[in-house]
Amino acid sequence: MAVSSFIMMLHMFDFTESSVDHMKKTKVLCFANNKGGSGKTTTCSNVGYGLAGLGKKVLLIDGDMQLNLSLSLFPEEEVLAMARSEKNLYMAMKKQEELTGYIVHTPYEGLDLVPSSTLMSGIEYELFTKWQREFILKKALKPVKESGVYDYILIDAPPTLGGWVINILCAADGVIIPVEASPWGLFGLANMFEFLDEVKEMTPQLQLLGVAITKVDTRKNYFKQTVQTLREMSEVPVFDTYIRVDSAIEWAQDDSRPVIAYKKSSRSAKEYMSLTREVDALWQ
Ligand SMILES: Nc1ncnc2c1ncn2[C@@H]1O[C@H](COP(=O)(O)OP(=O)(O)OP(=O)(O)O)[C@@H](O)[C@H]1O
Ligand SMILES: [Mg+2]
Repeated sequence: MAVSSFIMMLHMFDFTESSVDHMKKTKVLCFANNKGGSGKTTTCSNVGYGLAGLGKKVLLIDGDMQLNLSLSLFPEEEVLAMARSEKNLYMAMKKQEELTGYIVHTPYEGLDLVPSSTLMSGIEYELFTKWQREFILKKALKPVKESGVYDYILIDAPPTLGGWVINILCAADGVIIPVEASPWGLFGLANMFEFLDEVKEMTPQLQLLGVAITKVDTRKNYFKQTVQTLREMSEVPVFDTYIRVDSAIEWAQDDSRPVIAYKKSSRSAKEYMSLTREVDALWQ
């Protein structure tokens, strides 16, 4: 898609109410983009770990049947055991129970998790017949949020735009959109904005906190155009930090750790710490 037509498309959407509400104690943020592989889970995991490293108490919620967020914190056997147990997000949603009883501690200080299950593939079906089905997650999260135990609750969304992602967006105060620096990454973003505009009618408090540019390959010239296009969108906030392609991310995932925990000195770890500080600064 030509960059100019992408910008024209963006002008259709209204993000003018996206200033951050400084009064909320526990901030609920979600990482969403219907484009698969855009860096949602990697960003959610590392920003969560980074915030915990800044002394914040953080709850991560794995909202995807791919279990990737859980796998970024626990070895595969443990993730599969949690996915098969009664203590995961799918069971909480199916039983419409509050999430307090579904939280597990991760190996990292200040970082907890509500794990996912492969059964999340059927979540749309589970929600279909439920009363006020767009707000099941929001309701389940309310006691955790109101307890004030956590500074941040971060939710990782799957790469879809259905009723479950509407639930995630309705439970959140703000959304961060990780976007891969590629032409198709931009194309997917236009769909995402259109969807957000519709969801905002259901949940007017939802704020677009920013677009986070990921998987930037500085060896390819195309990345400059993507970054420039995104930064020129005056109505859309874009984080200053962008995350470059780094093999340390894959090694970290292979080792079931966020890259900041795996290799603090790596390029992507430093970039994710910088992005974390930008996210945290939204409330300073
Ligand atoms: N900065 C990076 N450098 C190198 N590889 C990366 C980087 N960020 C993400 N990846 C890799 O890209 C793939 C997709 O990343 P990730 O799973 O975070 O995206 P996602 O948006 O959550 O995907 P999905 O839409 O499937 O949920 C993963 O294999 C991950 O290891
Ligand atoms: Mg993911």
